[in-house]
Amino acid sequence: MERRPVILSGIQPSGRLTIGHYTGALRNWAALQPTHACFFMIADLHAITVRQDPIELRQRTLEVAALFIACGIDPSQSTLFVQSHVPEHTQLTWVLTCFTGMGECSRMTQFKEKSAQYRHNINVGLFAYPILMAADILLYQADLVPVGADQKQHLELTRNLAERFNHLYGQIFRIPEPYIPPVGAKIMSLQEPTKKMSKSDPNDNAVLFLTDSPEDIHRKIRRAITDSGREIRYDEKQRPGLSNLIVLYHIATGKSITEIEHEFEGSGYADLKAALAEALIEFLRPIREEYGRLCDAKDYLQNILLRGAEKARTRAHQTLQLVHNCVGFLPTLTPEAAVGMAHNR
Ligand code: TYM
Repeated sequence: MERRPVILSGIQPSGRLTIGHYTGALRNWAALQPTHACFFMIADLHAITVRQDPIELRQRTLEVAALFIACGIDPSQSTLFVQSHVPEHTQLTWVLTCFTGMGECSRMTQFKEKSAQYRHNINVGLFAYPILMAADILLYQADLVPVGADQKQHLELTRNLAERFNHLYGQIFRIPEPYIPPVGAKIMSLQEPTKKMSKSDPNDNAVLFLTDSPEDIHRKIRRAITDSGREIRYDEKQRPGLSNLIVLYHIATGKSITEIEHEFEGSGYADLKAALAEALIEFLRPIREEYGRLCDAKDYLQNILLRGAEKARTRAHQTLQLVHNCVGFLPTLTPEAAVGMAHNR
């Protein structure tokens, strides 16, 4: 049988998901799912690098699972699971940590940004975060990792670690390629369009959540910061605010950037904003409705995640065993042998 290329990607359950998560990740996951063997993960281990309320984290984890499905991830085609349910992630992380230089982690832009943002809690987990991400990817022998532009540097580190390990021990890890979409790889804040839209932004008007109500969407788009100028023309450098809105309109309608520029020839920003708000409301409506239904089906979601973790574990365990063997760990018992020993006691 032909081997389908493998995908692994993940999202942290550390807040409500935004339209950026959709364009940078979920939309591409759904599009790639028919042709790839996909593992989609809720990265709860990553989430605790920043202090989380335990009750909220548990709830958010299920909410993220519901949104995966509402955005088109089909649990009968793809494996959905929670990172902490597969202990091999933390096990491989330790081994890879011993192959990573301090300088490699301290160079990471996200580490620099987060340690500035969370000054009171610059923990070692925040520092080692990209190594855990490398372990996530390499455990599944992923060929492709669909992510937004902000994860590119972490993918480079992953590739470097894999190559370093392979150089020492032979072809253990597949070297993964990033998949960064040509449009929507970095949706910007609606209030500060030179900054990435982020779920942790304290200004609610800066962020468009996937579950926002029509009223929220109207308000946020109306208040979105645009640049001085009149024409509706895409220019990321000179007019980042306007260009961000054009990208959102493209996502919501499927129209090309050129088609959009033609559509609004002779119109002003207010016309674009009005049309965009309507288009986003219609586009997000089925996602919000399906999400609402799924949130009431906690058992169904939990079952999917538990079954997903089992499938993920089988694959992850094979890679981990290879790695443990390479570095010289004594083999452990297979589960069957362990049962046999217990009987004989
Ligand atoms: P996270 O949870 O910050 O974001 C999840 C995915 O959404 C993308 N994204 C965006 N894309 C475009 N515009 C935006 N404004 C925007 N905001 C978020 C991110 O690029 C990402 O693809 N470390 C990862 C989670 C992770 C992971 C992995 C990803 C853990 N292990 C293994 C891939 C492979 C993170 O924090 O993503």
